[in-house]
Amino acid sequence: MSETRLETRALSRNFGALKAVQAVNFKLDAGARHALIGPNGAGKTTFINLLTGVLSPSHGRVLLEGRDITGTTQAERVKLGIARTFQINRLFRGLSVLENICISVAERAGAAASMFYPAGRRTDIIDESMHLLHTLKLAETAHYRVSELPYGRQRLVELAIALGLKPEVLLLDEPAAGVPSAESHIILDAIERLPNDIAVLIIEHDMDVVFRFAERVTVMVSGAVFAEGTPREIEANPQIREVYLGQAVQRADHG
Ligand SMILES: Nc1ncnc2c1ncn2[C@@H]1O[C@H](COP(=O)(O)OP(=O)(O)OP(=O)(O)O)[C@@H](O)[C@H]1O
Ligand SMILES: [Mg+2]
Repeated sequence: MSETRLETRALSRNFGALKAVQAVNFKLDAGARHALIGPNGAGKTTFINLLTGVLSPSHGRVLLEGRDITGTTQAERVKLGIARTFQINRLFRGLSVLENICISVAERAGAAASMFYPAGRRTDIIDESMHLLHTLKLAETAHYRVSELPYGRQRLVELAIALGLKPEVLLLDEPAAGVPSAESHIILDAIERLPNDIAVLIIEHDMDVVFRFAERVTVMVSGAVFAEGTPREIEANPQIREVYLGQAVQRADHG
């Protein structure tokens, strides 16, 4: 049996009358490669927002290694080892790539309070940040402003920032969204090369990516878990083809 890192019990979130997330019981194992799929508006991003503390639940609980973290803040969860990327990126676009990573590494290392001056002299932070950029094949962009990079590279910087926090759990909300297909392989390659000990949950609409990367797939429909299984089980489930895969195929056909 695998060890569970992150777990939800009956996790729910309403927006007025809308049940965006309904009684979701979910487990993310240590070292997991887990995909969360489902139609637009299914509640996937809301679910991640509940895991990271961006939103608080209407009901239910979030546990990290068995400890109830439902009441903790976003910042506390980052410290506990939960990092994420966003569906729409949030970078310091006017700063260099290296500066963006240093902020994250310094934050984790506890040097953030008096950030720039000490960090500027803290060669360990710069070294670690450069090392991270090397592993993501971004080293040659270190001194570019984020805004000067092609969008795919910007999304990689986001991944580097999340990794700078040395997370145990990494939540990726459509990491290749908006990236032109000619460039999207750099994101997927980076995701495939993530350290094995990080538990990864990825929201992704591209089924080729899901079936290549994930060992486990959860299908969410209308806020609830519709099915969960191996990629093979999900692919073979005719109901899922109907509610989701069919739609994905149509979407690909129509552009
Ligand atoms: N802050 C909010 N206030 C009100 N309604 C919201 C809010 N955030 C999300 N919703 C609604 O909750 C539902 C779930 O949205 P969510 O963004 O979680 O879906 P999703 O599965 O991530 O969709 P997509 O694949 O399009 O990213 C949608 O109907 C959405 O309009
Ligand atoms: Mg979403």
